[in-house]
Amino acid sequence: MPEKVFVSRSIPRPGLDILEAAGFRVEVNPEERVLTAEELVRSCREKAGLLCLLTDTIDRSFLDQATTLKAIATMSVGYNHIDLEAAKEKGIGVANTPGVLTDATAELTWALILAVARRIPEATRFLRGGEFTGWGPILLLGVELNGKTLGIVGAGRIGTAVGLKAAAFGMKVVYLDPGRCPELEKRAGAEKLPLERLLAEADFVTLHVPLTEETRCLIGRGELRRMKPTAFLINTSRGPVIDEEALAEALREKEIAGAGLDVYEKEPHVHPGLLTLQNVVLLPHIGSATVETRSRMAVMAAENLAAMLSGKPPKNPVPLPRN
Ligand code: GLV
Repeated sequence: MPEKVFVSRSIPRPGLDILEAAGFRVEVNPEERVLTAEELVRSCREKAGLLCLLTDTIDRSFLDQATTLKAIATMSVGYNHIDLEAAKEKGIGVANTPGVLTDATAELTWALILAVARRIPEATRFLRGGEFTGWGPILLLGVELNGKTLGIVGAGRIGTAVGLKAAAFGMKVVYLDPGRCPELEKRAGAEKLPLERLLAEADFVTLHVPLTEETRCLIGRGELRRMKPTAFLINTSRGPVIDEEALAEALREKEIAGAGLDVYEKEPHVHPGLLTLQNVVLLPHIGSATVETRSRMAVMAAENLAAMLSGKPPKNPVPLPRN
């Protein structure tokens, strides 16, 4: 009997082709929405593998009920939605999709930086609203990137890729990371700084850390106050890294100049205080949303799942917690 796998949402076809070619019986969530916890448990009955997304909550309660699962491949680089401790206890392998979404996410980070700096969504609304009556000497003035400082919090794959593009805009780069990033230092002339100095010096602070207990609420009221009143905060990592309430207040009170966000604390809910402000650009978590990248992610997740279910190590295992 071929093993059964469940795919929690419709994904790009090349991923499904890999699972089918590997001989699995593939069942895909037919709904165009995230399944509820009960629906996900029901769908995973008799399944050996699960290909899930960052919108699925793979917690202990789910894992207690999904008793036939042997492997989980998430089609995301982040894995904060998976209880790794519980997965390890149950002997379930976990894999993710690092690397293939680095450029797409770095490019979207730059799109947000440019959008807030030059007020692009606001300018578009202005024109579409019929307010454009001609060129104006002080119409919709933004700020330039050239000569400014980019502060990267988290110089992993994505943070580094963002930093390497900064030279093209004539920007100085400073960064914060638990380790050293020789590539960023060498190729972008970046300087490693402690968080307080980075926040005080950067004109654009961009967040690229994974969500962990250490990074939850990394940017709160105190950190926002350390930023320059002319500075912008960009987040394409995970929403809970920022205290959204504090950010809405800082933006309203003009303690900082603006923000560009792709992720939210209680996704898909967005703090109502952010929705009404002009100086914040809001995107619906589309960091990796390019045709090329999503296809690569689907293939990588499917290959990881197929490998784990065949008793082989996946190419991209998520490190399980040590005891
Ligand atoms: C996107 O946010 C991802 O983790 O893949």
